[in-house]
Amino acid sequence: MWGGRFAEGPAAVMRSINASIPFDKRLWRQDIAGSKAHVAMLGATGIVAPDDASAISAGLDVVAAHYEAHGVAEDMALEDIHMQSESRLAAAIGPVAGRLHTARSRNDQVATDFKLWVRDAIDEVETALAAFQDALLTRAEEHADSVMPGFTHLQSAQPVTLGHHLMAYHEMIARDRSRFADARKRMNLSPLGSAALAGTGFPIDREMTAAALGFDGPTRNSLDGVSDRDFAIEYLTCATQCSLHLSRLAEEFVLWASQPFGFVALSDQWSTGSSIMPQKRNPDAAELVRGHAGRILGCMTALMVTMKGLPLAYSKDMQDDKPPVFEAHDLLGLSIAAMTGMVESATFRTTRMREVAEAGFATATDLADWLVREAGVPFREAHHITGQAVARAEALGLKLDALPLTALQAIDSRIDERVYDVLSVDASVASRVSFGGTAPVRVRAAIAAARGRKTA
Ligand code: ARG
Repeated sequence: MWGGRFAEGPAAVMRSINASIPFDKRLWRQDIAGSKAHVAMLGATGIVAPDDASAISAGLDVVAAHYEAHGVAEDMALEDIHMQSESRLAAAIGPVAGRLHTARSRNDQVATDFKLWVRDAIDEVETALAAFQDALLTRAEEHADSVMPGFTHLQSAQPVTLGHHLMAYHEMIARDRSRFADARKRMNLSPLGSAALAGTGFPIDREMTAAALGFDGPTRNSLDGVSDRDFAIEYLTCATQCSLHLSRLAEEFVLWASQPFGFVALSDQWSTGSSIMPQKRNPDAAELVRGHAGRILGCMTALMVTMKGLPLAYSKDMQDDKPPVFEAHDLLGLSIAAMTGMVESATFRTTRMREVAEAGFATATDLADWLVREAGVPFREAHHITGQAVARAEALGLKLDALPLTALQAIDSRIDERVYDVLSVDASVASRVSFGGTAPVRVRAAIAAARGRKTA
């Protein structure tokens, strides 16, 4: 299609390194949609005779039906999806197909196709993340009162509820969704009509093609239109951040499913066995979600590095923009679906969680706070007194709330029997009613508020 000035064809390796059809065939729907919008505009503006435009449009439907039924052939000689579709079109309707590429270049064509693809990808992620949040909300509501140890430094710190813990992930995903939505808004201008780099002398109507493709308008600078890949990079940064969140939850599932923790039993559907150790139930899916986050980050890095040194406008390096985005999108889709499935089907071992929360002197802060509130002790001194109480309980092999009053009073005489109201894990959790805190009433309110919000 560009061979006019060449006497010889390309070397075999040249053909291979040049071809993007093995991966960009994934853009076929967007390529057909872009071409249909373009040819409708060519007909409406009289750049192409209306009859020819209609014939081309009908021919594009034939090509689409063929792809739908048989897939896209990987013909290296045809390089990419754009040439592949044009050649199929010519096979279907004859030489009039040659008018489609008027006032267009593959440079604005590919930028448009890829933007349309990324936009669809964002919409898919949005749906998947909303479903994941629903799963988190359901399980959080079920466990709004379930006490578990809250950790800092992975040391038992203060008791929290499992519902509160799960709602923390709901917050992360809400930010992810807002980032994707924001990226979608910013990218939604149509490059079509930027032509090769400088625009075109044909009297095209860019508003028309932009509207037909669901864009908010045309891009404002033709050089930027063909060379901008920010939208793909933004997709990857959003995907990376989201995958980091999924990876953190995956890591918690791996820990919680281990015998020393025993906080969660993964369902059969979400565990695998060992070929040698019959007792094993491995959290492979969670481990792979953790692993995929690294690969998604790698995809983001790959595209950023591809773009960093490119002068305006289009360079062929930019053909390498697609594989990392496709790969990241597939990995992210699997990761979200897997975490949704695991959250939905996990059995949380609440008895074990409570036992560990009670064993870790997790209510020590409550004792210190009580001394401040009820006995007017400065916090630093209260901290010291509490430290002695913990040491005493540890020496006696008792939980904090099982220490006899005499033992507590031997440490500080200002302590009286009212202290037991705050030493249980339930009392501790129930007391944390500050906005955003772990008290079950707060967790329920957070769940209700999340359900009430339209998005995220
Ligand atoms: N296959 C190319 C890509 O994906 C299409 C654009 C080619 N443009 C060009 N001037 N060679 O980037």
